[in-house]
Amino acid sequence: MCGIVGYVGPRETAKLLIDGLRKLEYRGYDSAGIAVFNKGKIEIRRRVGKLANLEELVGNETFDGTVGIGHTRWATHGRPSDENAHPHKAGRVAVIHNGIIENHLPLKEALKRKGRIFSSETDTEIICHLIDESIEEGYPPLEAVKTALGKIQGSYALGILFEGDEKCLIAARKESPLVIGLGEGEYFIASDVPPILPYARDFIFMEDGEVAHLSLEGVRVFDARGNKVSKESKRVNWNPLMAEKGGFKHFMLKEIFEQPRAVTDTIRGRLSEEKGDVILEGVNLDGSVLKRIRRICLIACGTSYHAALVGKFLIEGLCRIPVEVDIGSEFRYRNPILGNDTLLVAISQSGETADTLAALREGKRQGARTLAICNVVESSLARDSDHVIYTHAGPEIGVASTKTFVTQLVILFLLAIRMGRELGILSQEDGRGLIGELVRIPHLMEEMLRSSKQVLEIARKYLTARDFLYLGRGINYPIALEGALKLKEISYIHAEGYPAGEMKHGPIALIDREMPVVVLATRNDVYEKVISNIEEVKAREGKVIALVSQSDRETILKLDDILFIPETHPFLTPILLTIPLQLLAYYMADLKGTDVDQPRNLAKSVTVE
Ligand code: AGP
Repeated sequence: MCGIVGYVGPRETAKLLIDGLRKLEYRGYDSAGIAVFNKGKIEIRRRVGKLANLEELVGNETFDGTVGIGHTRWATHGRPSDENAHPHKAGRVAVIHNGIIENHLPLKEALKRKGRIFSSETDTEIICHLIDESIEEGYPPLEAVKTALGKIQGSYALGILFEGDEKCLIAARKESPLVIGLGEGEYFIASDVPPILPYARDFIFMEDGEVAHLSLEGVRVFDARGNKVSKESKRVNWNPLMAEKGGFKHFMLKEIFEQPRAVTDTIRGRLSEEKGDVILEGVNLDGSVLKRIRRICLIACGTSYHAALVGKFLIEGLCRIPVEVDIGSEFRYRNPILGNDTLLVAISQSGETADTLAALREGKRQGARTLAICNVVESSLARDSDHVIYTHAGPEIGVASTKTFVTQLVILFLLAIRMGRELGILSQEDGRGLIGELVRIPHLMEEMLRSSKQVLEIARKYLTARDFLYLGRGINYPIALEGALKLKEISYIHAEGYPAGEMKHGPIALIDREMPVVVLATRNDVYEKVISNIEEVKAREGKVIALVSQSDRETILKLDDILFIPETHPFLTPILLTIPLQLLAYYMADLKGTDVDQPRNLAKSVTVE
């Protein structure tokens, strides 16, 4: 997620903006920039890389203006570069943006036809041109912004400056967070509170559709219909570290709760609900290519490997192309048989995992077509692949993967629909049905997150357990593996994920009244068999913690603890099952007092073999 800061007041602005951006570094970024007035003109200074590069560029340069905006960019459209860094400027308008403009391509084409010249690959630059176009038509700044926003689909948190009105800063918010800080005779905007805390403790939290006009005279906020609204300010007494975590105790918990937005951002601009199809920009897997693909290899490590295991069910289910799944560190040593009839899909949050990169290169060496599913723009994996589909989870600070995992599942679901539709295996009607279910998922995730305290109770109940068993079948089995990994890696409690049907082939010897068994028992085509497995556990005095469908009322009689999962398509249930398992691991780790965000011995990206 990008970081935004803005200022109106008497202070020297450039340094204040850069200091503010430094307090947003935890959000992750790959470039930074500021725009400040000097002698009536908007001066822009921006650099790819870390803030130090921007500071070096600005040096001791002084600007006479005391209104400005600053931005740290987490790239989603357009590689990290000086030209793609924000702020962007067109005519008299400079803009910083956090969010995704879904209809940026048609808008850009229309603006080009009117003679507008673009200097970046970003979706953001379009906003500058739209606003400047309205200014040229004689609209005052506030009206020009509202007119431009009426043409935009997508999400945004904006900071906007206007040459000729150097005491004004306009902000707008839709689905990307934006706060206004109320100081003494000075006013601030930011994506989050940390940059403002040193100067103000009273905040206005903007809501979707609102536009704010900041000047030395004060702050005016307007709703989506253009009516002035009075906003209640809220006092924030967090210390800076708490503020970086948005008030959550750990980044991991914040990122678990960010998952609905991460899924929404990952879906954004990629659905054609009318056609029952998916739009994967820049991924040329048309029929002529796909018809030559005889096999798909999904390669990944750790949590991403569990996403790959789910991907096998999705792709084979919707495309009927055989899928093999390999662990990155195993793949290249098993002497794989690949060729130009193979599509190798490498899944990696960081895009820098050495074993996954090595597997990708082995695939290329043998002539396979390669596709990366990645969360970091221009990472090594993204650069080395023929195609790349980015998750838009934003930077993940916690070492344990959470929001990036569920967004990998979403991308695999989108990819399976796209290929199924292209091959004619998946009908338009079925595509519409799947997409209709997918757009409900963020709301269902929110519903589950609201009942997180039930998971906390279960964590308290089993805190002294020394071993856990996680059981699942079919498409849910990889989620049993993921739940076990989450518990292991952050609480240091031993846990094992197993196919439920395999329990009687050995692990059943482990079952006793000390052994909590987490069973994924949502309604699907193997539900009855999972219920039998629950019976087997209960017959040996095992403790069963079951995740069951909300409609399920028979199973609960046999269980020690129950967590209800909203009903959705079986192909999307893994996303919902993941949330309580992440929370169970988190609460147990937090109760044990381990270092949740930085567990012992672990790295966020394993760049060595
Ligand atoms: C999962 O919580 C771990 N952080 C780890 O297993 C991780 O998934 C694995 O190292 C792969 O990382 P990648 O997705 O960046 O390739």
